[in-house]
Amino acid sequence: PVIRSAEYVTSAVAPQGYPQEGLPEVAFAGRSNVGKSSLINILLGRKKLVRTSATPGRTQTLNFFRINDAFVFVDLPGYGYAKVPPEIRKQWGPMVEQYLTTRRELAGLVHIMDLRHPPTADDLQLWNWLQSHGLHAVPVLTKADKVPRSKRLPHAQAASRLLGVAVTDIVLFSATTREGVEALWARLLPWIQQ
Ligand code: GTP
Ligand code: MG
Repeated sequence: PVIRSAEYVTSAVAPQGYPQEGLPEVAFAGRSNVGKSSLINILLGRKKLVRTSATPGRTQTLNFFRINDAFVFVDLPGYGYAKVPPEIRKQWGPMVEQYLTTRRELAGLVHIMDLRHPPTADDLQLWNWLQSHGLHAVPVLTKADKVPRSKRLPHAQAASRLLGVAVTDIVLFSATTREGVEALWARLLPWIQQ
């Protein structure tokens, strides 16, 4: 779609802080440093809407961005980063789980993993949890630019087996080359056009 406007709305750690406009939401989840914020910026064609960082664990709240006054992207904090202080790690589960289980506006989730490595135990735990709760979710394998072409399909196939989804249902993505942008939008449009 044409992105006419993309603006930061608010950050929240609990439902009282969520926006109240009732617009459909797409959430983005994945390990710390996997490239969630970069992916959102590329999808929206905005270089610096969402802060990215070489330091894992920067995003520690739910961050809401309103797009075209029509739908909302939610950048979730990353999981699985050992150096995040324990009190913050303890918060992650309840904060995200509360959002995912109670948010009526949530239309679907983009689950971002790393094409270079098989899904981690944390990745599989979230993916299986999403399935068991019947949430719409699309698996994305990012940093594809870091994987030689000849290795991409084998890596995607390994992920597909572990996730239990067809390899054709997985979106390969790169924030560096922008590959996968169209394929991912095609998966998101049905969610935001209700
Ligand atoms: P947290 O908010 O800390 O959980 O991280 P994040 O998942 O939002 O990751 P972020 O987008 O900040 O990116 C982390 C690092 O990976 C940055 O140094 C990015 O430049 C880099 N990066 C993100 N996506 C890609 C990609 O597709 N290819 C390459 N080569 N680097 C990427
Ligand atoms: Mg981030």
